[in-house]
Amino acid sequence: MGAQPFRLGWFGNLTTPEWRTGWSEDALTWTDARYYVDMVQDMERAGFDFMMLEDSLMVSDIYAGTAELELKHAIYAPKLDPVPVVSMLAYATEHIGIVATASTTFYPPYLLARAFSTLDHVTRGRVGWNIVTSSEDRAAQNFGMDKLPLHDKRYDIAEEFVEVVTALWNSWEEKAILADPVSGYYADHTKVAPIHHKGEYFSVRGPLNTPRSPQHKPVICQAGASPRGRAFAAKNADMLLCIPNGLDGMKAYRDDIRARAESFGRNPDDVKVFFVVQPVIGKTMAEAEAKKAAFLADKQRNFEAQMVHFAAIMEIDFSVLDPDLPIPDDMSTNGHQGTFEGWKEAFGGRSIKDAASAMRVHSMELVGTPDSIAEQMDEAMDYVGGDGFMFLSQPTSREYIREITEGLCPALRRRGLLRNGYSHPHFRDNLRSF
Ligand SMILES: Cc1cc2nc3c(=O)[nH]c(=O)nc-3n(C[C@H](O)[C@H](O)[C@H](O)COP(=O)(O)O)c2cc1C
Repeated sequence: MGAQPFRLGWFGNLTTPEWRTGWSEDALTWTDARYYVDMVQDMERAGFDFMMLEDSLMVSDIYAGTAELELKHAIYAPKLDPVPVVSMLAYATEHIGIVATASTTFYPPYLLARAFSTLDHVTRGRVGWNIVTSSEDRAAQNFGMDKLPLHDKRYDIAEEFVEVVTALWNSWEEKAILADPVSGYYADHTKVAPIHHKGEYFSVRGPLNTPRSPQHKPVICQAGASPRGRAFAAKNADMLLCIPNGLDGMKAYRDDIRARAESFGRNPDDVKVFFVVQPVIGKTMAEAEAKKAAFLADKQRNFEAQMVHFAAIMEIDFSVLDPDLPIPDDMSTNGHQGTFEGWKEAFGGRSIKDAASAMRVHSMELVGTPDSIAEQMDEAMDYVGGDGFMFLSQPTSREYIREITEGLCPALRRRGLLRNGYSHPHFRDNLRSF
């Protein structure tokens, strides 16, 4: 057995926590963000590398042509903008990395470079940017477009976007700030230069009016699953979020990303791959199995919520299809292609209803006690080759967070699988510290 430590992250949604049980005030008070402050503090105490904040920019009405079910189930909306919330989470913590999602299709590059440079300053070098190209025409319609650009073109735009923001982050050299009362110069203009970018999609003069930040460039996070998405991620990202199926799928995905990173002249160890998991934890195996059975029964009952979720990110109106028939072979999406193809591949022959209920957003099933799950994670990392896991729970609850941070994490630490503190002040250096 490996007993090599690995990294942990959390997929955070700035949406309502669990509200169906009806006994938590959090369902109404989460927008003041203290729920998320408590959560990030728990994660830092437990030894997480990061908390990631997902995002989208629309209220979807794709399912049956109305927002009724989207809002009834509160899946993607209502939500908060992750970018300002990063500051609050960072102020309440010392070490953990905080990753905010922002779209290259909608942000102007200058504003994004400035916002993330600012966040890198105020977090003292602990911010990450989850680069997404967005997946929804409904979002495009909030930014003066009728439709999103096509899937691969969005990645082409994103490539140039990253080039521009990187040049802006470079537009302030080190030591440009003198703060020298003797010479009378605060900043040295010879170390601050325009970028004069004129490309196919963007024209930006520069320089940034924000000085060089502690990490210089925020940690770059990405979740490309399609071949074009993987190429983009392997070229640009420090960390990747992914949901390949099973141990062999995980190993193949990580090997593929590392080979692609090498082909771009990068050290593959500089790209950390995080596999999504959703452990079901009990004090005994029987309790864990019972929880899983209840979870699956709830998914069957709430089949409609799953379809509304898919409709939002794939922009396919599943309400017009017969749920007792399989997903049509010729169906495709301009949204999350990787997710859609994975779903079809895993459950292609089954009815839409069955496929939606069986769909679990995870790379491997983890059901058991903290000790049995820790052992399974150890074996998986050993087989796959390393890096880490990201927990995803949608919606989440204080109870579930505690099961992970106070149940599973101590079991991982006892086995030497979890970091024992943070050896560096900055997020990227901690990610690469082992
Ligand atoms: C774990 C995970 C988190 C993601 N978070 C977001 C997000 O916050 N916002 C978003 O628009 N897309 C998000 N995506 C979608 C990805 O950016 C990407 O579009 C998707 O994985 C499909 O990849 P592809 O576009 O290369 O087909 C996420 C995907 C995964 C797997």
